[in-house]
Amino acid sequence: MSKLLAVAKYIQANYNELPAARFVYADVCDIQKAIPGIKMAHGATRACFIDPDNEKYVYKISYNDSAPNRYHDYCASEIQFYAEAKAHRCERILLPLEPVFTLDGGITLYKQMKYTYVHGELNKNSKFYRFLKTQYLSESTNRTVLQRLIYQGQYTSIDEVWLASAIHTYGYKFMTEFMKFTKRNCINDLHSGNLCYVGRQPYVMDYAGYCNF
Ligand SMILES: Nc1ncnc2c1ncn2[C@@H]1O[C@H](COP(=O)(O)OP(=O)(O)OP(=O)(O)O)[C@@H](O)[C@H]1O
Ligand SMILES: [Mg+2]
Repeated sequence: MSKLLAVAKYIQANYNELPAARFVYADVCDIQKAIPGIKMAHGATRACFIDPDNEKYVYKISYNDSAPNRYHDYCASEIQFYAEAKAHRCERILLPLEPVFTLDGGITLYKQMKYTYVHGELNKNSKFYRFLKTQYLSESTNRTVLQRLIYQGQYTSIDEVWLASAIHTYGYKFMTEFMKFTKRNCINDLHSGNLCYVGRQPYVMDYAGYCNF
């Protein structure tokens, strides 16, 4: 049985009755301990189960990081944001999420394409990073144009090297539409840990925002 399938089966067997709002960080740690070889990464609100042998997908699940009445499934809002982006033809830059199943208590497990690199962990001396910085950052824009684009969005600390590679890949007009989309939907945490590459193509893998509902 693949490690991801084992994660799914374990969740079904152990958390079916649990109200989603009571699913917490300790639970995702328990899941990781129960499945040999599975890696678990997490942010403020979600856990990601990664099978080192599966190149294609990861599983994601929202946990409750706050009071029970504040529980929010950021994966579910991400799916809504994706639909909203699609309505404005700027979804190509987003890594889509899809539900795998929802348990009786409301916990939903989701699946997402695995990234190749996360921007924030790129080695600054690597060939790839130096290529992005020297080719795309200098080529795509002068700094004023880049800043103007940044200020159309919600998150004004977005990394310029990632943004330059996105402009190169998707075009300036597309990126203007995308930045406006982030503003309208208060997508307020496009930090470098949420920006990634599949192969050499830049994507956003976490566009749920934080405390924005
Ligand atoms: N598609 C993916 N492929 C590989 N690893 C991933 C993927 N998505 C997420 N991860 C890993 O899981 C971590 C948590 O995922 P994610 O950023 O979606 O959670 P979050 O709780 O919303 O994060 P934040 O703290 O930014 O709000 C990421 O920082 C990353 O290490
Ligand atoms: Mg994140």
